[in-house]
Amino acid sequence: MPVAAITGASKGLGAALSLALARRGYRLVLGSRNATEIAEFGQAISKLTPTLALRLDVRRKDECVGFIEAGVERFGRLDLLINNAGIWRLGTIEQVTEDDVRDLFETNVFGPIWCSQAAVAVMRRQASGHILNIGSTAAVDLKPSHIAYGASKAALVGFTGCLRSELAGTGVRASVFSPGGMKTGLFRAYPDRVKEDYMDPTVVAQRILDHIDHPTEEWHITLRRR
Ligand SMILES: NC(=O)c1ccc[n+]([C@@H]2O[C@H](COP(=O)([O-])OP(=O)(O)OC[C@H]3O[C@@H](n4cnc5c(N)ncnc54)[C@H](OP(=O)(O)O)[C@@H]3O)[C@@H](O)[C@H]2O)c1
Repeated sequence: MPVAAITGASKGLGAALSLALARRGYRLVLGSRNATEIAEFGQAISKLTPTLALRLDVRRKDECVGFIEAGVERFGRLDLLINNAGIWRLGTIEQVTEDDVRDLFETNVFGPIWCSQAAVAVMRRQASGHILNIGSTAAVDLKPSHIAYGASKAALVGFTGCLRSELAGTGVRASVFSPGGMKTGLFRAYPDRVKEDYMDPTVVAQRILDHIDHPTEEWHITLRRR
């Protein structure tokens, strides 16, 4: 049975991906910050598949390394890392604060880099694996009021492209899947941002599974709401 590690797994898209991968026969390593929520979610998923659920803050390099190492210690291999944990905040160039920029980049960019670094060490040894980053259409739409979020997701796309070039010929794949608006708690501070036509994360998770199952040369996939 293949092994997948998913960051930000306790809710939203991460929870939908965890459920879909469990049904597909993956063993799971799941992490997010709220210890109670990830433990409860891990307990529920473990009824479907062997699951290791860990408290994880991707802003901390030591926790990213510990997360990947604990998964490999439990299951002996790593086939898929999904860097899904992410946060969102609105702000124009006048409004954006140092805390916003730091928090968005540490979560949306640094976390994926540290988790990938630990995963690449394992996947290179296996000569197989897939690192999949969850981007956003904000990385290409570059809208106003998305100064820090848009820049962080564009950086994540850049990181993925560099990683992919570096891993060419190793048997390890790197790609980024960028959805448009989904009905999740990402906008909890701005509930009126969620629009009727935002996508269901379960439907997006299925499209991501298709991308995982059918490798092509395309390494940055965007999926827009209707
Ligand atoms: N919703 C959308 O419209 C949309 C559109 C495009 C892209 N995305 C991207 O999709 C991904 C998932 O977002 P979502 O919509 O599912 O949001 P969500 O419902 O808010 O879920 C985010 C998940 O990430 C975890 N998380 C946040 N900060 C973390 C950290 N520092 N370390 C570890 N886990 C952390 C959260 O749990 P804790 O708070 O307990 O840590 C939660 O499990 C994000 O990368 C987001 O940018 C979302």
